[in-house]
Amino acid sequence: MAEVLKGLTCLLLLFAQKRGNVKHLVLFLHEAVLVQYVDTLKLAVPSLIYTLQNNLQYVAISNLPAATFQVTYQLKILTTALFSVLMLNRSLSRLQWVSLLLLFTGVAIVQAQQAGGGGPRPLDQNPGVGLAAVVASCLSSGFAGVYFEKILKGSSGSVWLRNLQLGLFGTALGLVGLWWAEGTAVAHHGFFFGYTPAVWGVVLNQAFGGLLVAVVVKYADNILKGFATSLSIVLSTVASIRLFGFHVDPLFALGAGLVIGAVYLYSLPRGAAKAIASASTSASASGPCTHQQPPGQPPPSQLSSHRGDLSTQPFLPKLLTKVKGS
Ligand code: C5P
Repeated sequence: MAEVLKGLTCLLLLFAQKRGNVKHLVLFLHEAVLVQYVDTLKLAVPSLIYTLQNNLQYVAISNLPAATFQVTYQLKILTTALFSVLMLNRSLSRLQWVSLLLLFTGVAIVQAQQAGGGGPRPLDQNPGVGLAAVVASCLSSGFAGVYFEKILKGSSGSVWLRNLQLGLFGTALGLVGLWWAEGTAVAHHGFFFGYTPAVWGVVLNQAFGGLLVAVVVKYADNILKGFATSLSIVLSTVASIRLFGFHVDPLFALGAGLVIGAVYLYSLPRGAAKAIASASTSASASGPCTHQQPPGQPPPSQLSSHRGDLSTQPFLPKLLTKVKGS
C-alpha cells in the first residue's frame, strides 16, 4: 500500500509539473517509462533489494533480542560509506571514516539503551540466523541506497519519475508477495481487512518517509542520510523523555554526545580536518600542546577557501548551494 501511495503522489507531482495537462503527462510517461525502458528496468534492482531487505529485517527481528538487532543494524552506516566509495568513487578522509565509526558507536548505544536489556531469550530464536540476516540487510541497505543515488544523479530523470518507476516495481512485487503469503485471507476478508488507523499511520509514514529519503539522496547523499537519521533517533529519544516520561541513563548522554561529535567532525572542511589530523599526529609524536602547521601550508581557514573547491567546504553550505542551483 505504501508503494501505491508513493507512486500516486509522484504521479500527482508530475501532473502538476506538466501544469495539469493530461496529454503532456501521458506523452511524457510513455517516453520516460516505456520508450526508455532500460532506465525503467534499472529501478527493478533497488526495488527487489528493498523488498528483500524488508523481509530480512523480519527474519533478524524474530531471531535476535531487540537491542542486539538495533545495535547491529547500525552497521549499515559503514556499509553505505563503503559502497559510496566503491560505486561512486567518493573519497573520504581518515577523519571522516573516524566520524562514521563514532556515529555507528553513538547511535548503537542510544538504540541499545532504548531497546533495553530484554528478558530471557525465547527458545525459538536462532542468533546465528538473526546475525546473518542483519549483515545481509546492512549490505543490501548500503548497496540499494547507493545504486539508487547513482541512478538519481547520473541521469536527467526527476526524483518523482524515478520514484514512480521504483513504486511500479515495488507495487508489483508487493502484490506477488501478498498473493503468495496471504492470498486466501485477502480473498476471504478483502484487501483492506485489518487496516486500522494505526496501520494507516505506518503506511503513510513508510510512503512519505520513502519520498523524503529519495529527496535527501538526490540533493545530499546516502552518507548524510545516515547522519540525519542518527540525529533524528537522538532527537526523538529526547522528545520522548518529555512526552512519555521516557527514562534515560548516562549511557544515553554518551551515545548522543558521540552522534553530535561525529556530525561535527564529518562536516569539518577538509583543510580543517587535515589540520586536526596533523595536530593529533604531532601531539602524539611530541607530547601535548605542540600543534604544528605543516611546513609551507597556509593555515586551515585559508586552505579551505584558497582552493575554491566545493569538496573543501563544510557539507551544509554545499547542500544549500545544490538545492538553490537545482
Ligand atoms: O534502512 P535503510 O535506510 O536502507 O531504509 C531505506 C528505506 O527507505 C527502505 O525501507 C526503502 O523501502 C525506503 N525507500 C523508499 N523509497 C526510496 C528509497 C528508499 O521507500 N526512493
